[in-house]
Amino acid sequence: MGKNGGNLSNDNFGSKFGAMAALAGSAVGLGNMWKFPYMAGENGGSAFIIIYLICILLTGIPVMLAEFIIGRGGGKNVYGSFTALAPHKHWGAFSIVTVITAGAILSFYGTVSGWLLQYIFYSLTDLFKGVDAEGVNVIFENFTSHPYHPILWQVAFMALVAVIIAFGVRKGIEFSSKFLMPLLLVILVVMVIRALTLNSDSVEGLKFLLKPDFSSVTMKTFIMAMAQAFFSMSVGMGVLITYASYMRREVKLFKMSINVAVADTVISILAGFAIIPATFAFGMQPDVGPSLIFLTLPQIFAQMPLGQMWSFLFFVLLAIAALTSAVSLLEVVVAFVAQEWKMTRLSATIICTIVISALGVLSTLSFGPLKDVSLFGMNFFSFFDYLSSNILLPLGGFLISIFIGYIIKRSIVKRELSNDGELKLRGMGFYMVMMRYIVPVAIFLVLLYSIGLL
Ligand code: PHE
Repeated sequence: MGKNGGNLSNDNFGSKFGAMAALAGSAVGLGNMWKFPYMAGENGGSAFIIIYLICILLTGIPVMLAEFIIGRGGGKNVYGSFTALAPHKHWGAFSIVTVITAGAILSFYGTVSGWLLQYIFYSLTDLFKGVDAEGVNVIFENFTSHPYHPILWQVAFMALVAVIIAFGVRKGIEFSSKFLMPLLLVILVVMVIRALTLNSDSVEGLKFLLKPDFSSVTMKTFIMAMAQAFFSMSVGMGVLITYASYMRREVKLFKMSINVAVADTVISILAGFAIIPATFAFGMQPDVGPSLIFLTLPQIFAQMPLGQMWSFLFFVLLAIAALTSAVSLLEVVVAFVAQEWKMTRLSATIICTIVISALGVLSTLSFGPLKDVSLFGMNFFSFFDYLSSNILLPLGGFLISIFIGYIIKRSIVKRELSNDGELKLRGMGFYMVMMRYIVPVAIFLVLLYSIGLL
């Protein structure tokens, strides 16, 4: 037992670097590589980036820190940590929102990640060679609307995630992140250099990304930036609580939150530097939304020297990013099921993977046989995406901020932030004011906006 309340010592992160790699692995995902570049492209370039940075400082980092405090303070899965720290049991029940959010996100995350695996395979067989816009469209449409091919790839991806989780915290999550995250960074930097040196128009892409265009900024931009900040940093769905429960006492929580935020933001911006200039270099539009990576980029690779290799590397990069994020999502659910329902890690992993994959099949099929099924005017895929990113995530963040601001004992916050009194505490009063008044209000506004009340 010990201070971490029940975690076996071999099921904790072995080192600070390992913890950092796992957290960065969770944070860096499709949100950085896929959503961020097109969002910046559509919403005024660096105007969006500036607003995004403000959201990270004002809400992202404070809530991340709150999750660290809850996780390491409680030492258990989301539900266990909330019940351990709260005076009333019903807080544990509220926290289940985050477990559901993690499962819901993973369900549609598996769909897109499966596509990535298929695209790695397409690159290996040089399928995009000499293909024009029309051809790329046909490849995408035929694949995503196929009645079972995308399901096979989705299941393959989920199986990979499950294997890592089954190996446990240190041998599975930490080990794979320590190896995959540096690899991801190297590939990304190589891609940025390639994109910026394609031709003289590449630089135009860079200018486009860096030139602030405040004319396209609206209230909606702020809301989107904040939802994106949460999603990208993996805030609001219990991932950080779960991972923090595996962190040792000597990890400095505030410093760790800054490190993760910086790493995540730098990688988003690098992804923008890789993708937007490449689209400019080939005279394409960067603001086409989600289809950017599956429709626009393959056309670009088709025209590039050594395109097959670049395309392969690019989709491997995305698959790595997706894998380490998906691992963290599954861990939230598995930790909950294993600890609360007293199951072994292996059985919990198998059961959770099957249930979440089955749910994910609905999203996968919403590009094919279930195309016309709509929930609140959206297909399954968009529904799960909207529900989790725009409603459940902010709701989770709201509950977490209220919990830290009003419910938990201050002495616990102090203990966790100061590492049992070893670190000098500065700014704790300020932090509490943020968590009581600023963060919950900001998140609440996002929620109201998302459900159409604002
Ligand atoms: N942060 C991940 C990304 O940017 C997504 C994610 C969200 C992962 C929530 C885990 C938890 O893609």
